[in-house]
Amino acid sequence: MKEKRTGFATRLGAIAATVGSAVGLGNIWRFPYQAGENGGGAYILVYLICVVLLGIPIMMSEFIIGRSTHKSMKGAIQELTPGSPFKIFSYVGVLGALLICGYYSVVCGWVIEYLWNSADGTLLGHTPEQYSDMFESLVGTPQRCVLWTLLFLFLNFLVLSRGIQKGVERMANIMMPLLFILLIVFCINSLMLTGSMKGMDFLFNPKFEELGWKGVVDAMGQAFMSLSLGVTCLITYSSYFKDDSRLMKDAVTISALDTLVAILAGIVIFPAVFSFGLEPNAGPKLIFEILPTIFQQMPGGMVWSILFFVLLFFASITSTISLSEIPITFMVDEYKISRGKALIITAVFMTIVAVLSALSFSTLSGVKLFEKNIFDFLDYVGPNIFMLLGGLVTAIYVGWFLKKEVIHNQLTNGGKYRSGFVQPYIIFCLRFIAPIAIIIIFLYYTGVF
Ligand code: PHE
Repeated sequence: MKEKRTGFATRLGAIAATVGSAVGLGNIWRFPYQAGENGGGAYILVYLICVVLLGIPIMMSEFIIGRSTHKSMKGAIQELTPGSPFKIFSYVGVLGALLICGYYSVVCGWVIEYLWNSADGTLLGHTPEQYSDMFESLVGTPQRCVLWTLLFLFLNFLVLSRGIQKGVERMANIMMPLLFILLIVFCINSLMLTGSMKGMDFLFNPKFEELGWKGVVDAMGQAFMSLSLGVTCLITYSSYFKDDSRLMKDAVTISALDTLVAILAGIVIFPAVFSFGLEPNAGPKLIFEILPTIFQQMPGGMVWSILFFVLLFFASITSTISLSEIPITFMVDEYKISRGKALIITAVFMTIVAVLSALSFSTLSGVKLFEKNIFDFLDYVGPNIFMLLGGLVTAIYVGWFLKKEVIHNQLTNGGKYRSGFVQPYIIFCLRFIAPIAIIIIFLYYTGVF
């Protein structure tokens, strides 16, 4: 056990790996399509409010639990508050992570196909309608969809089998800054398209009449999804943090960077959507339709598109690695089985969920859960139920049950730094704002209003 908990090699490594977990398809694929479906500006405003009032405090809570004990959730709660029933919620996190990683891997599979097509030159040179057909043909062909998904999962578990430091840290350190720079280049390109300002208006001019309850729920779920909250991922990652890392600063930095990446993705996508006369509410296929259209009007489009899909692949795998790490660390810590065994069990389960999700646009398209196919169902319940429930539990636990000393010690590194208004702010959010907001959402599900 002990040697596995040596921590990340450098402080930057721990932060970069956590940014690697946070930044992924959630920011670049899910955020734009959700914003597009929910009318843009108002959704983004609610999203930003959720990041500040719920996201940052819950992220700090997960860091406090993980770093104070250097254990994953169940062991951590047992150590912090012996006998507390809260530890049973660690199963919610583990199950949530398995389901989310399952369907998420399908999108990672799509990314690999787009990378492949970029490299062999078949991606560019089509009309937007053809891009829409190309995407439909990919998801509608079971073999293709399943094969790419399996290839992705294989690579994911290959990296994991080499251990957390080597794999995650190295990748995140190099790829994240590159992705960031590339997004800025694409933003500039999109802003120079004719009619781009319509896209900016869509993104930043809130029209509340288009939001509704669905938009609020989606924005909240998306904030949790994007920041990797509520499935104990950040507890697991921060259990590897060093004792001198600064949790307050890190949580704010990570949340800000993650939000920035999502907004940048929006600025890449929506000006182009309006400039090309397309619809913003295309759903999960949005970026797969728009990005090739963007790349092909850029000089050297093929190079840009290869570069982008390579980086998106890395951003995605650093997220799936963190998702896979949840059940693996859980099993190693709780059942004292070897990491290798835990990895195999996790891989088998995730593969089953992933294959079912990959088939949900073709062979299994008739299987509906609450009127959604398997993929759409998991894309809904993962963030909007599992993550929100996990977030609710974390908020109540840290806000009401964890000793103030522990919170204070973690936030200030044993009194070394001042916590200023941050501690009362997060405690207020954890005690009142987060539980009330999330419970309102759950009441909405039950159809009370
Ligand atoms: N935050 C990741 C993304 O935006 C997804 C994720 C969720 C990763 C939960 C880990 C845990 O893509």
